[in-house]
Amino acid sequence: MKCKTCPGKAVIDIRRHNAAFCKDCFIVHAERQIERTIEGDKMLSKDDRVLVAVSGGKDSLTLWEVLRRLGYHTTGFHIVLGIDHYSPQARATVEGYAKKNGLPLIVTDVKEEYDFSIPELAEYTRRVPCSACGLSKRYLMNRTALQGGFSVLATGHNLDDAAATLLGNLLHWQTPQLGRMGPALEATHPKLVKTVKPLVRLTERETLAYAMLRGIDYHDDECPNAVGATSLFYKDLLNQLEYASPGAKQSFYFGFLKKGRPAFLAAQTDGVELKECEACGQTTTTETCAYCRMMDLARRTAAARSR
Ligand code: AMP
Ligand code: FES
Ligand code: ZN
Repeated sequence: MKCKTCPGKAVIDIRRHNAAFCKDCFIVHAERQIERTIEGDKMLSKDDRVLVAVSGGKDSLTLWEVLRRLGYHTTGFHIVLGIDHYSPQARATVEGYAKKNGLPLIVTDVKEEYDFSIPELAEYTRRVPCSACGLSKRYLMNRTALQGGFSVLATGHNLDDAAATLLGNLLHWQTPQLGRMGPALEATHPKLVKTVKPLVRLTERETLAYAMLRGIDYHDDECPNAVGATSLFYKDLLNQLEYASPGAKQSFYFGFLKKGRPAFLAAQTDGVELKECEACGQTTTTETCAYCRMMDLARRTAAARSR
């Protein structure tokens, strides 16, 4: 198999683009796709201070690497979740990357700073770990970006993530979420920071190839709580579709953004007004935000158990 753009030998084929690339040409192709996404969706400018949420996996480290190479002002943000074996390695990987590249990094350890690891939080609040984890991550990312004066928060969600989330939201007709499905969400309240997903034009397979070909030292363990997760089941279904019909994921997600999302834009807020949480000041539709309510329940349960 020959590279599409030079006489070199191809190392990866991308069926939906009907193309194959050698190492160097694939790197250029992947970086162009990301640059196109950033420019096309007006995600970032060179004046922005970008907080990059990095888990230590291939996607978020690919994101940080490309933003750094494109000359954006980035600071990494890593949340230590307190999940056995998994979290210490993830933290070491992110710290290693930041140090090697001389990049600033903010680390928040949820156990040290907020008293509970994610498994403890899940147990004390009777939530599944991924739910306690997702709520904590969204809350801490926005809060850290606001407190640090960052203008944008960037995450490493790829096309597989975006298509799986869309499938889940459609299956359950989550109309407000369908209105918010875009890869760039402007801040709609002074206490919200703009969020962007610059990797949405690349599949998981492509970010993996990029990270490997660039020699990025990423953390490739799957979180133990992800086993059996619905999102993995949706990804598997979408991969089967993609195999039978190359380009299916891309046309599903980008087709929805163009033709389906406009119908759901009005449902984004569902007539509910955003207010500030009376405990922490972050946005909420009720008096106290979901994060503060979760933390309050965890504290009360922990206190009752220690009596
Ligand atoms: P996930 O929800 O695990 O698929 O992760 C989606 C994105 O959230 C990643 O690409 C990162 O940008 C961000 N993220 C996930 N876990 C962490 C973490 N522990 N610390 C900081 N950012 C994270
Ligand atoms: Fe959050 Fe696994 S990464 S529960
Ligand atoms: Zn709150």
